[in-house]
Amino acid sequence: EMYGDRTNSLGLNMNIHSQADDFIAAVQQYRDKQWQGGPIVDGKTIETDHHVSITSPQETSKQVGSIYWGDKKLSEQALKSANAAYKSWRNVPTEERAKCLENFADLMEANRNELIALCSVEAGKGLQDGIDEVREAVDFCRYYANQARELMGGPIQLPGPTGEDNELFVEGRGTFICISPWNFPLAIFVGQVAAALVTGNSVIAKPAEQTGLIAYRAVQLALEAGIPGNVLHFMPGSGAEVGSYLTSQEDIGGVCFTGSTYTAQAINRALAARTGPIVPLVAETGGQNAMMVDSTALPEQVVTDIVASAFQSAGQRCSALRVLFVQDDVADRVLDLLRGAMEELKVGDPLLHETDVGPVIDGIAKTNLEQHISDIQQAGRLIARAPLPDYAMGGTFVAPTAIEIDSISQLVKENFGPILHVIRFKTSEIDEVIESINNTGFGLTFGIHSRNETFAHDVASRIDVGNVYINRNQIGAIVGVQPFGGRGMSGTGPKAGGPHYLTRFITEKTRSDNI
Ligand code: SER
Repeated sequence: EMYGDRTNSLGLNMNIHSQADDFIAAVQQYRDKQWQGGPIVDGKTIETDHHVSITSPQETSKQVGSIYWGDKKLSEQALKSANAAYKSWRNVPTEERAKCLENFADLMEANRNELIALCSVEAGKGLQDGIDEVREAVDFCRYYANQARELMGGPIQLPGPTGEDNELFVEGRGTFICISPWNFPLAIFVGQVAAALVTGNSVIAKPAEQTGLIAYRAVQLALEAGIPGNVLHFMPGSGAEVGSYLTSQEDIGGVCFTGSTYTAQAINRALAARTGPIVPLVAETGGQNAMMVDSTALPEQVVTDIVASAFQSAGQRCSALRVLFVQDDVADRVLDLLRGAMEELKVGDPLLHETDVGPVIDGIAKTNLEQHISDIQQAGRLIARAPLPDYAMGGTFVAPTAIEIDSISQLVKENFGPILHVIRFKTSEIDEVIESINNTGFGLTFGIHSRNETFAHDVASRIDVGNVYINRNQIGAIVGVQPFGGRGMSGTGPKAGGPHYLTRFITEKTRSDNI
């Protein structure tokens, strides 16, 4: 059966085989489709001189389509058009903009199977990940539509002296540059664009270099849903050219970015170096996410949640578990169970139902992750590596790996893939553990497994992160349920899918009226 509630979109229960089989067959029909895409400016797809072929992470010799890349000149043209369009788009009633987002959500649901197939062939995402991705994109649209109705539904009446009417108005800021990552090539791409559009901004959306095709398809649907072509422009291209150009322009209204901390810092510097208006940067970046397991935790439950947190989506979630702290008394038991669970993991073709872990995004990611595994193994002790299928060499597969190390300070950067580091601790060392996690400077997700409520809540309150999860996995934040985003080096906030997100996309005006 379909499940869901009043606010979040319907998913699909993959455990009901009759439904799952039809769904999988429908998605697999797209396996050999060739997709095409390119920049969309003023509603028209442009064929530029730079034509890039897209291959599949699970089979790197297989082309799944091709896309034209934009450049500086085209970005300049899009920005000019977006800035002109903003002047009327900001005056369109909020209700009309909200309706466009709701139409967009409906169209994504209607095209769900194609979008899931694209998530898989272009980004290597599994079927369940694809279902979740479309749900999240749809949820973002409906949630922000409702948030906008509340935030921008009409001026707020304020008190004042007799005869004076004081009102507070909110409106968009201009053209938002939305730069999104490959790990949620649909959900985060759509979330950023939806938030900026519904608050009355124009948008130039730049997808990750690896995942332009699915973003292209999403923009086609957004335009079909009624977003005007001069309000939403699409600019696939290189970060070095298109991203750098757009984030250094004087006449932009703001930047919304999800990706690495390093790139967010570069964007921050580019914005600071411009002359002209000071604009907001909404950045959602990386993490060095930890989980703590104390001696009261239930080992079987813990291991299920560790495996999901560390290895689902091949560990390519910013929320994913990187460092497991396990209390000495239960460590051997937990690690034994973990080893057993990892031996059972099925790594392979993401379009198959039985697959647990798909490939990583590309060859560069694979090389870096393998390098890290070999480096950190010198200083640590291998706990387990999941088996790989015989066709693994044809794709960018990295076997899920768990390695015991001594200290979180041995990790100099985020390792964005299926690698779990494990550290044992004694109860007397709890303060040092908390300090060491906070000292990483990241602050995204944290998990704790304990049946001691006082302890769990005390630790939760002392760890500096945006999302804490107690006795469950620490991934898969749901729009409106776990507003998502971190602090410190993990991001600026406000949280995506939360009640304050839209506030960074607006500007305010008061009117004190004595007519
Ligand atoms: N929103 C995603 C999650 O919670 C981010 O990686 O897993």
